[in-house]
Amino acid sequence: MSFDFSAPTNRLNTYSTQWDYVGDRFGFSDLLPFTISDMDFASAPCITEALQQRLDHGIFGYSRWNHADFKQSICHWFANQYQTELNEESLVYGPSVMYIISRLIQLWSKPGDGILYFDPAYDAFKPIIESADRIAIPNPLQAIPRSAQDAQRSDYQINWSLLEQQAADPNCTILLLCNPHNPTGKVWTQEELSKIAEITQRHKLCVISDDIHMDICFEPYTPWTKVAQDNRWALVSSASKSFNVPALSGAYAAIGCEQTKQAYLEILKLTDGLSSPSIFGVIAMMTAYREGAPWLGELREYLGQNLEWVAERLNQAFPQLNFCPPQGTYLAWIDLTPLGIDMDALQHTLIHDHKIAIMRGDAYGPLGRNHLRFNVGCQRSKVEQGLEGLIKAIESLR
Ligand SMILES: Cc1ncc(COP(=O)(O)O)c(C=O)c1O
Repeated sequence: MSFDFSAPTNRLNTYSTQWDYVGDRFGFSDLLPFTISDMDFASAPCITEALQQRLDHGIFGYSRWNHADFKQSICHWFANQYQTELNEESLVYGPSVMYIISRLIQLWSKPGDGILYFDPAYDAFKPIIESADRIAIPNPLQAIPRSAQDAQRSDYQINWSLLEQQAADPNCTILLLCNPHNPTGKVWTQEELSKIAEITQRHKLCVISDDIHMDICFEPYTPWTKVAQDNRWALVSSASKSFNVPALSGAYAAIGCEQTKQAYLEILKLTDGLSSPSIFGVIAMMTAYREGAPWLGELREYLGQNLEWVAERLNQAFPQLNFCPPQGTYLAWIDLTPLGIDMDALQHTLIHDHKIAIMRGDAYGPLGRNHLRFNVGCQRSKVEQGLEGLIKAIESLR
């Protein structure tokens, strides 16, 4: 490996949400966190060098995103990583993925409309739907038992007949997809996406595909552009997760419909006054997408090994869990149902006896009950410390 992901880092006293503000969610501040999805690694050296150069310039006047360098770097990334051609003219910037999603919801639906999503879901999905006075319509994902699949990775299936029924409701106007899916890590196959596209096209639903985790996939990732059957879609993403730069801000979307794109740009600029981006976010993304592929490739390998180690150690301690690493993301979605332990008691023990913060599964909806979402985007030594603490905590409750 040319990049050292095992080198220790210290994020304390850096205004880090995961480390310095862990107490906001877990009630105590001296915890080792495996929580929100960012990583403990320094970003790719090509990015920090490009940022340093810009920092040395010392002048940080207003900047723009609507130039060929920004848009072509995104096209270059999709062409090189995913053999997918994006239309440069369809691309827009936004300060964050959730901002763009929020504005597309506003443009493609009205208060009282239903918005479909797969449950469990990223914890910001339901609030963004409901705070816009839309109705959140969950379609439950079901885990496919390991015995029923050959794969070495976890898999989930859609309730297709329910999806068909939900999409047929004339008040249901949008499907909010997450590819790969947070928290289960499912990477949708082209076949599944094509089937979803056929259903949404037939019932005239708009599709917003949140692909922010697309670069950390261990199975082939298919962008929505490859299956779209009409122009009612947007693929929203960012380099922020993959290259660990969310604090620099910046995201983008490819929007299938020109009219929606123009309406979005009006809101961005005229209503929200947000069309001037952070130059650091723009430089980070352009550098990542032009020069960051070797770093990302090694990162993915390191994260894959972290996940495999978690599976090996966890299944050694509790064979009945039969835990499979996810198909994508650096989040281990662990179903503890077979152990029959009290999840409140587990959190209490993790926090008070082991000083560890791990996300509760029910933060991602009722289907996440009895699950934990364990972030392994960190040095292996930290993953080991967290998992050994988790194993001891579980053992103390059995
Ligand atoms: C699926 C998903 N979408 C969006 C976000 C947040 O992205 P942003 O900060 O760009 O809004 C996250 C962060 O964890 C995420 O997991």
